[in-house]
Amino acid sequence: MRLHVVNHPLVSHKLTVLRDEDTDSPTFRRLTDELVTLLAYEATREVRVDPRPITTPVGPTTGVYLAQPKPMVVPILRAGLGMLDGMMRLLPTAEVGFLGMVRNEETLEASTYAERLPEDLSGRQCYVLDPMLATGGTLAAAIRFLTDRGADDITAICLLAAPEGVDNLEKALDGLEVPVTVVTAALDEKLNDKGYIVPGLGDAGDRLYGVA
Ligand code: URA
Repeated sequence: MRLHVVNHPLVSHKLTVLRDEDTDSPTFRRLTDELVTLLAYEATREVRVDPRPITTPVGPTTGVYLAQPKPMVVPILRAGLGMLDGMMRLLPTAEVGFLGMVRNEETLEASTYAERLPEDLSGRQCYVLDPMLATGGTLAAAIRFLTDRGADDITAICLLAAPEGVDNLEKALDGLEVPVTVVTAALDEKLNDKGYIVPGLGDAGDRLYGVA
């Protein structure tokens, strides 16, 4: 697994405002959207393209178009939904599949409660959207779900990651042939005993949608 922490002053600035407990939900949603677009730019560095001959007003040339099959963007419900528009701004022709996963707050185990994805993801590059890489359980389960359906290249975009989550994810994916990259705006200090990222930003879903 490859971890890419995006180091850019605009990313750090937006993340600081997101972390602030005084930031309200509308601002939190807007900044999440902007931050994801910046992360998506890095996350799509290896998106597959094919050569395409075109003619400009001045003459013929060969450029590139996104390759087929189209990339698949997979927001993990609920909080990953707040990242979808920011991602689709850069990849408007991607397809979107949904994965509903919930974490048991006592055992911290992740389980799937809903899915709307093609049965066959062979040859697909998948971009998983999950704001908080905390214990790593949800992301590991989501990645396994996608690779079991044939996805052959996975990039996860997370606003924040905890070192424990990165380690757990690495262990959980041990032996997996499929390349996995995690792109995040910051690697925080630790997890607390409730499984929250410290300093983190609190519960991403609650802050996005204004409910606790
Ligand atoms: N999920 C969140 O929303 N926040 C955390 O800090 C950890 C998991």
